[in-house]
Amino acid sequence: MASSRILVILLLTIFSGPCMSHPINGDEHFGTSAPCIGGPLGMQNGAIPDSSITASSFYYYAIYYPRAARLNVGSYGWQPRTPNGQWIQVDLGKPTAVTGLTMQGRYSTSTYFVRAFSVQYSMTADSGDWSSLSNDVGQTVTFRVSSGAATNVTFPMVPLARYIRIFPSQWQGGCYNLRFEVLGCQVPEDGAIKLVDGDDERSGRVEIYHHGEGVSWGTVCASDWDINDADVVCRQLDLGAAVQANKASEYGTGDLPVVMNKVACEGTESRLADCPFVCTAYQQCNNSDVAGVVCLPKLSK
Ligand SMILES: *[C@@H]1O[C@H](CO)[C@@H](O)[C@H](O)[C@H]1NC(C)=O
Ligand SMILES: *[C@@H]1O[C@H](CO)[C@@H](O)[C@H](O)[C@H]1NC(C)=O
Repeated sequence: MASSRILVILLLTIFSGPCMSHPINGDEHFGTSAPCIGGPLGMQNGAIPDSSITASSFYYYAIYYPRAARLNVGSYGWQPRTPNGQWIQVDLGKPTAVTGLTMQGRYSTSTYFVRAFSVQYSMTADSGDWSSLSNDVGQTVTFRVSSGAATNVTFPMVPLARYIRIFPSQWQGGCYNLRFEVLGCQVPEDGAIKLVDGDDERSGRVEIYHHGEGVSWGTVCASDWDINDADVVCRQLDLGAAVQANKASEYGTGDLPVVMNKVACEGTESRLADCPFVCTAYQQCNNSDVAGVVCLPKLSK
């Protein structure tokens, strides 16, 4: 145990980059693969509250407030005071995989609508922390819409973001009215774990979720896997103490990449992602050596 801990520390010292002792940090986006099928996030049904819809400006009639920009609600939408360089923003409340938008113009006539727009996204909404939605060669994407009727646009990549901003750049009808829906899905918290293919809900192969490019759920290498590591898994899942740290893929390998190796928990950490480990990009794992656990039931207090 002591020697493996020294090895881990050595490896962590040698390897730098995003995958060190705490690599489970949110990346900005998922690349091109959506982790889920996007659905409406609440501009139409009101799940997104008025206070979460803000804009750079709005026209002085109250019917054009940012909160009027809800898909299929009312007939006006948001209308900025001056069209150029304006934006409307939604706070989705927590990190969300955003797959696209439904855009809609003024309902009664379909004459006033946004013809072209771009999109930015952010995890914090701090001024220096916005990224433009871009294509695979890094160019900002301009989305085009040809009518005021509800039209879906699908993003070329799926950002993981809490905030989305729409920047209209061309419009039909002298001014424009904009209503929209945000399409996407909630994703597990970064570093979330679950037990899979066990005998009951307290046993199984350990799978961990990472907001990373191309990786969502992954497995854990059983190299150096011990009861301290298993205890942390059981604690994170709000179960009782660990009784087994299973090696040799006793609960199967799953069809997933192995994303953590040489896990070296003290046993007191509250999350597996808080333990030192080595990323499998640097330290290969034998795929027939995937970790599992058996936990006791949680004792009622
Ligand atoms: C847009 O996408 C949503 C979610 O997938 C779907 O429910 C809706 O019918 C689509 N609307 C149009 C106009 O295609
Ligand atoms: C992986 O482990 C199995 C079982 O211990 C062994 O038979 C196999 O040779 C190992 N493969 C590699 C590539 O080390």
